[in-house]
Order: sequence, then C-alpha cells, then structure tokens
Amino acid sequence: MARAATVHVCSECGACSAQWRGQCPGCGAWNTLVEEHAAPAARARGRSGAGGPVARRSQVRVLADVGGSPLQRMSTGTGELDRVLGGGLVPGSLVLLGGAPGIGKSTLTNMVLAHLEDAGRGTLYVSGEESVEQVRLRAERLAVDGGGAGALGVPVLAETELERVLEVLAERRPQACVIDSVQTLACAELGGAPGTVGQVREVAARLLRVAKEQGTAVILVGHVTKEGALAGPRVLEHMVDCVLQFEGERERPYRELRALKNRFGSTSEAALFEMREAGLVEVLDASARFVADATRSPGGVVLASMEGSRPLLVEVQALVAPSELEQPRRVVSGLHRNRLALVLAILARHGRVRTGGCDVFVNVVGGVRLEEPGADLAVALAVASAAHGRPLDGAPRACFGELGLTGELRWVGHPERRLQEARRHGLDGVIAPPGSGPGAAEAPTLRDALALALGSLQTGAEPPTDGLRGARRLAA
Ligand code: TYD
Ligand code: MG
Repeated sequence: MARAATVHVCSECGACSAQWRGQCPGCGAWNTLVEEHAAPAARARGRSGAGGPVARRSQVRVLADVGGSPLQRMSTGTGELDRVLGGGLVPGSLVLLGGAPGIGKSTLTNMVLAHLEDAGRGTLYVSGEESVEQVRLRAERLAVDGGGAGALGVPVLAETELERVLEVLAERRPQACVIDSVQTLACAELGGAPGTVGQVREVAARLLRVAKEQGTAVILVGHVTKEGALAGPRVLEHMVDCVLQFEGERERPYRELRALKNRFGSTSEAALFEMREAGLVEVLDASARFVADATRSPGGVVLASMEGSRPLLVEVQALVAPSELEQPRRVVSGLHRNRLALVLAILARHGRVRTGGCDVFVNVVGGVRLEEPGADLAVALAVASAAHGRPLDGAPRACFGELGLTGELRWVGHPERRLQEARRHGLDGVIAPPGSGPGAAEAPTLRDALALALGSLQTGAEPPTDGLRGARRLAA
C-alpha cells in the first residue's frame, strides 16, 4: 500500500493532517498548515520521543517510596541566570532560550559554557549559524571570571546535521550542551529544510532523549517571530522543561531575561543584564540606576514594582499631547496596550482626566517590561501628571497598586518589600492601596491617589486636556 510522502503540519500546535486545510483541526488556527515530508520511521519515533519518558521497563511506585534527593544544580556563573532557572541548571534538563536576533543569546550561552568548562564540567557548544572562527571572535571579547581559559576553552562544533551532533554528544557525554540554534539543525533521515515544524520537533525530541539518558543539560537557542513568539511549533514549549525569554531593545544596553515556563522553579522571576563591550553583565542594583535617572518632571512617576521575588523601582513616563488624528495615538512600550486603554478609561471615568482628543505615549524607562497589575497606578499618575503639566507633589515619591473598574485601588502582592525598596532609595510617602502597611500613604480610590499626587488640581474643574479637546472641536 502506498503511503503519503507528505503531511500537513500546523506551525502553531504541530497537529498533522493528510490533506491541506484552511483551518487546523487541532487548534483551530487559520492558514497554519504547511506541507512537510513524512519519513514514516522517523516520524513514529519522533512521536514516541516527544516529551515522553525514555524507553525502559516502567514500574508503578508510591511517591513516598521514591528517593527524595534534592536536585543537584549546576551554577551557570551568573547569579541572575541561576535565579531565573530556579537555583541553577538542572542536569538532564532541556531549556529553550528564545529571543530576537542580536539580543545576546549566543553571548549568554557562551558565557555559561565558559563558566561550566572552567568549573571542570564537560561542555559542548554546537553552532549551526556561525563558523568556529566566528564563535572564536565572540569568545575573545568575553570576560569570564572562572579562573580558567574562559570562553576560549569551550569545545565548539560547527554542524547542522542532527545525526552528527548526536554522535558527538554520545562520544563526549558533556554535562552541558548548547544548540545554537534549534532552527538550524536538521535530521537527514526526515528530509526537508531545517527550521520546519517537523524538523524542529524531531531535533528537540531526539535531543530530549539524549538529555534524559545521559544527564546532559541541553540549552536550545530558539529564534522568535516578529510578534515575539518562539518560532516553531508550540509543541516545543511543551517538550522542554524550561522556556526562557531574552528581550530588550537592541539600541539600548539593558536586556531582560524571564522564565515563561519552569518545571524546576518559579515563572515570575526576571533578571536584568547589560550588554557591554566584554559581554553581558548582571545589573544587581537596577533600582538605584533607575531612580538616579528618574526625571521628576511632569509625566514621570517612579513605580515600586516586583520582578518575581525581587522589588524593582522603575520610572514610568507619559506624554499627553493634542492629536491631529481622528483616532488619537496610543503608544506604549514596556506594558500591554490593553492595560493602557483600561487605565485611560478608568482615569476618564473616575479621575476626570480625559484624554479622548489626545495622543498618549507611555514608556517604561530602561526597556523594562512590566507584567504585573501593580503598575496601573503609576501609569494613571504619569498620564494625569502629563495631562496637567505638573510633577507629583511633595518629596520624591513612588507608587504602586492595581486599579479596579470602579475606580478603587486594589491591594497587590509584597507591599512591604516594595515599600522597603522605595525607602532604601530615599523615596518617602509611597502612594499605595489600603492594607499595604506602615509607611505607605494609603489611597482607597484613584481619586484619593490623584489628590495625594497632584493635590489641589483634583478639586478644581476639568483638567486642561478637556480644554484641548474643546479647542479642537472649535477648530473643526
Ligand atoms: P549575540 O550574542 O550574537 O546575539 P544573538 O545570538 O542573540 O543573535 O550578540 C549580539 C550583539 O551583542 C552583537 O550585535 C554585538 C553585541 N555584543 C556586545 O556588545 N558585547 C559583547 O561582548 C558581545 C559578545 C556582543
Ligand atoms: Mg546567535
């Protein structure tokens, strides 16, 4: 019986279909099915290997009888990366590191391997994108403080064929291996170009097996699409133990690393790095830098935020200007656009700060991305301060809190750590939700917070933004 030589695979969820369809039968996404070669043997193996345990005779066991030895983790040499990983790299784990081109994925992974190699652990760096000479050029720049040969001591294999990589892995049995990148390796048996859904899945499945069998920690470097999602099927994210996202703006030196998934730690941790001439450097006291740089001009507000378990002071800046457009601009960087829309609506409804006829720009300084609800109040105060053209009243201050739809200020996690961090950097009178504890200037509602931050303006009539809108209407 003849078998189809090709299948159609969804680039979102990895579901297979014999015929092409407009809509994926697996996840319902449109136009995501791509035709790929199906090598029956390899495909069957790939499926059994995908995320599955290593082939061996399995037994049923009661959890209490299972030895509870703690995970032995390897330090990567960077405290910040260790923290995001949950305390270090776990032997036999598969980590996916995603990020835009030029963000520093190769630099970071080179530095990690250099440290591990110096610490006497076997490593292997597989480069499918760069030649050995190019990798050496980078290594020459990196200052790795491991007491050994540093990045120049890392064994490098420039290879794009999966079978050869597996051979070398079986030969050398390193404790840590970096695949840079997973989209450049291809399994010859499977056919087809590297980077296709089937190839990426097969490569990851085979490497997963090696990781579990040999106890090698494997870091897969992955590209991201323009939208910021990891390129390749989502099954990749299900297969790996840990998904790390490396982000930041290429023009600025700050880089943020966060865990989107972590079987061995928390996903709320994030670390800040700075790209320097000699590689990536951890930014240990980011708050001090951001507070020192904060402008204290109208539109600038310091937010006491939490990056996972760590407090971080960052400046949120806003600009409100009359718009020439029918649909005024809403430009955000560092937080979700929808969150800004919500804050603007609450400001208009409960704070009498109307920005309907204005362009609104909001930026989190330093390229930091805020993922927590506690940022709402800072955005609201920054917009109000910008709309009024007035800086916040009183001594240098900070704020935090989530805004409810009825204009109330809601409690957010770790108020005491946020307050402590603000105090440590000389910011008093932190505007915070009720229940935040001693030392906070508690405001039950947005109106109270606006009164604390911008004082008498709130008791007066409509803020000037409405005047702008009126002027526009007259001009029209
Ligand atoms: P790279 O790690 O190659 O990025 P990726 O692998 O994510 O594509 O590094 C990208 C940029 O970082 C590159 O433009 C040069 C810069 N860089 C430094 O500024 N300092 C350094 O020490 C190194 C190695 C790179
Ligand atoms: Mg690279």
